[in-house]
Amino acid sequence: MAIVDEINALQAETLAAIDAADSTAALEQVRVGVLGKQGTLTGYLRSMGSVPKEERASVGKTVNVARNAVESALAARKETLARAELSAKIADSAVDVTLPGRAQQVGSRHLISRITDEIAEVFMGIGYSVASGNEVENDYYNFEALNTPPDHPARGMQDTFYVVDRSGDKAAVRGESDVLLRTQTSGVQAHVMEEQEPPIYIIAPGKVYRRDVADPSHLPQFNQIEGLVVDKGITFGDLKGTIDYMCKQIFGEDRRTRLRAHYFPFTEPSAEADVSCGVCGGTGHLYNGDRCRMCKGTGWIEILGCGMVDPNVFAYAGIDPEVYSGFAFGMGVERIACLKYDVPDLRMLLDGDMRFLRQF
Ligand code: DAH
Repeated sequence: MAIVDEINALQAETLAAIDAADSTAALEQVRVGVLGKQGTLTGYLRSMGSVPKEERASVGKTVNVARNAVESALAARKETLARAELSAKIADSAVDVTLPGRAQQVGSRHLISRITDEIAEVFMGIGYSVASGNEVENDYYNFEALNTPPDHPARGMQDTFYVVDRSGDKAAVRGESDVLLRTQTSGVQAHVMEEQEPPIYIIAPGKVYRRDVADPSHLPQFNQIEGLVVDKGITFGDLKGTIDYMCKQIFGEDRRTRLRAHYFPFTEPSAEADVSCGVCGGTGHLYNGDRCRMCKGTGWIEILGCGMVDPNVFAYAGIDPEVYSGFAFGMGVERIACLKYDVPDLRMLLDGDMRFLRQF
């Protein structure tokens, strides 16, 4: 076959292959095979020198025509394939915009945080500031500086989790460790009195831990808000007025409060504060005469412990009880949240049941 015919045949064959290529990758293979360094058409271009003189013009022309035809066919086919591949890709990742959207669940603050903030706001409104302490505490601050030495019987009411250094071989026996998960926020009192000169007006919210089994009215981990006032001339009347003010702010203006004598190691005298029952209006019975179950017929609900700061506690902190006096109080946040919203079981606050939590 004459060279010119060979080239024409190669052109026809290549154009057919270009037509048949069904992907940009296959097309590229065709291109390399024809126009690449070792390509068939490239071979003809390279060997022009060995073509007899009289044929050179017509062979050269044929090769150029073939190259132009192949190149423009490649370009056209490449564009078609690229467009098809792009559409396929788009179709693949298509989103059906007519589907109904999935609504975002809007979160809300947990009731425990909300009540904590509400109480903090009440106190900040009358000039208190917010202090914080460590959940992992020394025995000294949790008990001793609060007038509760190691052999004190009040320790038995607040057994806790001791933190033991496991790096040595020491066995974890209660009483062998001085580090514990605090049982009460009262330790913040001791820290603040060490660090701050009176006048002191603080509250301290935070988590506390006790070796208790969870039941409707107990949790092994819960939140407290501590309060401490140290100033000149602070009296039991100031304590009573403060508690009454707080209860009216949190539960409503119609609530009454009372103090009952009690015992705490770090206050003298000590009291428990009750707020009048919101379910029976403090009467102890319902409109039909039934005994009120919320307050067990007493008309009162206990909400916190309080008292005048014991002079021994001042002594630990280096404050002169002849110059200063003060009061302190401590309340359970979960308990107050449940009382405010008539929740019958503290554990419901922690169950994570959205049907319950969403109500607040
Ligand atoms: N820390 C006490 C408790 O956890 C509550 C308490 C009682 C705190 C009397 C006080 C207080 O500051 O004065 O049971």
